[in-house]
Amino acid sequence: MNKIFAANWKMYLNEEESLDFVSKMFLNKSLFLSKEIMIFPSHTAISSVKNALKNMSNVKVGMQDCDIEMGGAVTGSNSISSISVDSCIIGHSERRIIFKEDEKIIKQKLENSLKTVESTILCVGETLNEKKQNETFNVIDKQLSILPRSLNEKKLIIAYEPVWAIGTGLVPSSDYIGEVLSYINNAIKSLYSNQMLNEVNLFYGGSVDENSVESLSAIPLLDGFLIGSASADFKKFENILKKMRWYDSIFNNDTYNN
Ligand code: PGA
Repeated sequence: MNKIFAANWKMYLNEEESLDFVSKMFLNKSLFLSKEIMIFPSHTAISSVKNALKNMSNVKVGMQDCDIEMGGAVTGSNSISSISVDSCIIGHSERRIIFKEDEKIIKQKLENSLKTVESTILCVGETLNEKKQNETFNVIDKQLSILPRSLNEKKLIIAYEPVWAIGTGLVPSSDYIGEVLSYINNAIKSLYSNQMLNEVNLFYGGSVDENSVESLSAIPLLDGFLIGSASADFKKFENILKKMRWYDSIFNNDTYNN
């Protein structure tokens, strides 16, 4: 299967910079049209990015987070229904750590997102300390314990993002990622029917760039990537997709014209 590329722009790009990024995508339209892409701009840029991308229907646009409430008196926050989006990221480690979001909060957000948007990305992953103490699988168990019994025909993406790999340039070995993905895969297999499992994808995130993307692509069970800083730099993101176009032409029999 060809990989899905989710670009988490965090707070890297303002509205003008986001639109500049999108206009550059149109300069290399054939490349950007050939891949399944998800873009998560700052909330303030979602509307204009969506509008600018309306002729690239393969590119989905989402929110980086949503509130636990669906509406009401919550100054400065954004509910999942505040704007029409295709997707939402829930439980990113920056939310868990900086905003002290615990499983109870993340569960509520997950529920809101799953009932509202087409696909939801739930981020899971251990800190360096937890890894050193061999706690990775216990942490993953706890983070997956909030999954609902039914997905109501919505897509769920579980992104394995070891906290120590995010923004550090450290990428775990493919064997290590493969082992954790297979653990997650077994956990969801015990929770969902085969039909529901078709709606679940597994991603990896943490320092993915043009140098690591090809070798990571060979990891069994991996459906896509959640990419932070390299996705907000147009050249770097374009290079990731170019590398993958070459990779797909060899391993997935896609046509390759550069
Ligand atoms: P990074 O971030 O690619 O900059 O490491 C990934 C993420 O936080 O989703």
